[in-house]
Amino acid sequence: MDYNEFLFKDNIKFEYVKSVIGSGYETQVADLALRDKVAYRAARKNMQIHSAIILKINDKFSGFFTFEVNHEAKEFCLLQSAMELDMKDKDIYSQMVNEIIKQNTFGYPMIMTVSTKHDLECPKVFEKLGFKTYLNLSGFEYMVYGTFDQIRMKRLCHSTMTNTWLSTKADWLKMKKEWNEKIELSGKKYNIKNPKFASRDGCWQGNNGMANIVLAKQSIENGKIKDDKNKTLNGNASVLDPVVCECIIRFFMPTNGKNIYNPFGGGVQMGFIAGSYKYEYLASEIRQNQCDVNNIICQDFKNVKWIKSDSSKYKPNKKYDLCFSCPPYYKVEEYIDYDGIIPDGELNSFPTYEKFRDTLFEGYKNAIDVLNDNCFFVVMTGDSRDKNGAYYGCEAEHELYFKNQGLHIYNKIIYLECEFTRLAHAKITLNYRKFPKREQKILVFYKGDIDKIKELYPTIGRL
Ligand SMILES: C[S@@+](CC[C@H](N)C(=O)[O-])C[C@H]1O[C@@H](n2cnc3c(N)ncnc32)[C@H](O)[C@@H]1O
Repeated sequence: MDYNEFLFKDNIKFEYVKSVIGSGYETQVADLALRDKVAYRAARKNMQIHSAIILKINDKFSGFFTFEVNHEAKEFCLLQSAMELDMKDKDIYSQMVNEIIKQNTFGYPMIMTVSTKHDLECPKVFEKLGFKTYLNLSGFEYMVYGTFDQIRMKRLCHSTMTNTWLSTKADWLKMKKEWNEKIELSGKKYNIKNPKFASRDGCWQGNNGMANIVLAKQSIENGKIKDDKNKTLNGNASVLDPVVCECIIRFFMPTNGKNIYNPFGGGVQMGFIAGSYKYEYLASEIRQNQCDVNNIICQDFKNVKWIKSDSSKYKPNKKYDLCFSCPPYYKVEEYIDYDGIIPDGELNSFPTYEKFRDTLFEGYKNAIDVLNDNCFFVVMTGDSRDKNGAYYGCEAEHELYFKNQGLHIYNKIIYLECEFTRLAHAKITLNYRKFPKREQKILVFYKGDIDKIKELYPTIGRL
């Protein structure tokens, strides 16, 4: 392309090379990359295997932009760029980016990490060319030329990255809010109050804990304080974090996976997110009231269903590609059905931890039997303390149980919540040398041949 007529008298040309190595520009690219400093990685052989646009001004090598097309991950990554230090020009640089955009004939999202501190590789330049920022992390902006849906997995990866998932990070909270708004909207549409908590009005955070219900609102009417006698939930019921659900689905569903089974169904979140991703979802849940509200909220999704059953006795009649459960944590909440009745077989109603545990594990056994090979079984769980204050050891028993069933213990993820209320508890409990619990565990078990994971699960691509 000749931009001569647009830009003074300089003759500007761009040349596409499939790989820097073998193009004849290896030394020039390396030399400029090292002088540029920010683009230094382009001097490396393992980076020079990638394609590039070479910039020539008046037939002289004047810059480069390397990029990688990854057909497996279906993405187009812009890598390093530099212009001769005395020739830096935003217009010419932007034309070089446009030359790269033309190379994307595949419709893949084009991704680029830029810094506000850089003169050319900066958000403003890329914004003008149609890139949008999807993540802001320590001075770097992650941008995409494409849709946000296409890079959703990257956001989830950046929100997790290690086995400690911090649910108070800014982007995590943003994604959580988006999901909650969708759940609220469905609740409104079908006239279900508090859809995030629905049917949990009777749950109680233990005898010494806080109710999840408050006699809340007051307002001033005609100069008088008026109490709204309606009960509202204060959010203390254990409600599954929708971003956890999304991460579990995106990370642990095989590429060709279709369905999810949850033996201890609980709230609406996992089914709602599974349905949004067009997966089939079946949950066994012992309370009819919980099944009813969830089925109403999720009626627009195809094949998302809660059935009233005792999981220790119920076994689905087909196989599943992912099992997930967030079971009761012993004696942390009460699970109450219509008319305030606790159904027979409800785990938290058992008088001993041992009976609770054995029945819980029977539910798992039925689920393991219907889990396909080379698939994951994810359990979000938390230990609780007995009346003397000692932990039951439920998490540890989970690990041993699944291991004894022949599954691999594949991830032990710590889900961290905000410490706010725990700090208040600590003022009392530290006297007893008891640290308030701020985490839950997401234990990820795998049934099958670990060597197959890379092949059977979607590629993550560049982060
Ligand atoms: C901890 S809750 C699920 C919490 C989940 N995080 C949520 O968002 O609701 C566990 C669920 O298991 C259900 N449950 C208890 N015993 C059961 C059993 N034997 N079979 C099936 N479900 C049972 C309870 O009614 C409760 O809804």
